[in-house]
Amino acid sequence: MEHLLQVENLKVNFKTFGGEVKAVRGVTFHVDKGETVAIVGESGCGKSVTAQAIMGLIPSPPGRIVDGSIRFNGQEITAMSKEELHRIRGTQIGMVFQDPMTALNPTMKVGSQIAEGLIRHRNLGKQEAKQKAVEMLKLVGIPDAAKRAEQYPHEFSGGMRQRVVIAIALACSPELVIADEPTTALDVTVQAQILDLMRDLQQQNNLAIVLITHDLGVVAEAAQRAVVMYAGIVVETGPVEEIFARPKHPYTWGLMKSMPRIDGAKERLVPIEGAPPDLFNPPHGCPFAARCDYAMEICQRQMPEATDFADGHKAACWLHDERAPKIDELVAAGRQV
Ligand SMILES: Nc1ncnc2c1ncn2[C@@H]1O[C@H](COP(=O)(O)OP(=O)(O)OP(=O)(O)O)[C@@H](O)[C@H]1O
Ligand SMILES: [Mg+2]
Repeated sequence: MEHLLQVENLKVNFKTFGGEVKAVRGVTFHVDKGETVAIVGESGCGKSVTAQAIMGLIPSPPGRIVDGSIRFNGQEITAMSKEELHRIRGTQIGMVFQDPMTALNPTMKVGSQIAEGLIRHRNLGKQEAKQKAVEMLKLVGIPDAAKRAEQYPHEFSGGMRQRVVIAIALACSPELVIADEPTTALDVTVQAQILDLMRDLQQQNNLAIVLITHDLGVVAEAAQRAVVMYAGIVVETGPVEEIFARPKHPYTWGLMKSMPRIDGAKERLVPIEGAPPDLFNPPHGCPFAARCDYAMEICQRQMPEATDFADGHKAACWLHDERAPKIDELVAAGRQV
């Protein structure tokens, strides 16, 4: 069966004064109907650029998709005209970003902002669209929806604004929502509420979600599968349960050691030392080698192929070559065995 979204060998460069930044360097993953796939990794690893590419929003210039394919519902996104992309974004792919204030128009009532897409893309009349906008506000848990629809974004709290953005994203019943750090700007309690809301809406609508985050806690909470990115490549991917139970890449081990335990047990958090490589001139070998406690000579020289484990769990690391020394993965990830 064809996946709802299939990203294959995606490469995106940006021309800058300093040279060409190779922001995304061959990313492959897929998303099926109704599932949440998290893209996780440190700042600058290419998460947002991957999302922009899927939505046809790479600013060009300076950006350019240099290779690869993005198929959504059997259609090739990279080959679409501006008008087709606009239509897809209005109807089939919804978007939720980190800062709700930049996604909302400060001079327009929130009800009208939700109604706008319904009028343009779903051919609803003004009155009908307004009514649907109020329904959407109710759906995302905003009390007094009819009154709230007549208010402006500044009259809402941060968490409420993000609910409004989710209402806009879902108004035209998209099949896929791309959420780029949707809860990063919110405090922890509100963050949990927004994640719950997204999960409920997803189940009701069989919605697929690409959830971008730098927070493994959010991944554990909200996603079924994860794509771990580092320096523009996918280093590990698979079912979230598998990745947490049997992480296979030293970068994932590092991420786990630097995150608080879900069960609340106290332990020392260990940040990953060092910084990601320069993306103007990425290394030939594994990009994580310079920061990896387990790096071998081959790691500096040659990019590892992905090794397949169970259930679509894959990792690109030389430690899984049969000639490599065996490392206890759970100990390396700082987990008790
Ligand atoms: N418009 C642009 N012009 C030049 N370089 C860009 C542009 N957009 C992104 N980049 C570069 O692409 C790389 C990946 O950026 P991206 O925004 O995807 O990171 P990210 O993983 O989303 O990080 P964060 O967690 O900080 O949001 C970075 O090196 C960034 O500087
Ligand atoms: Mg980003």
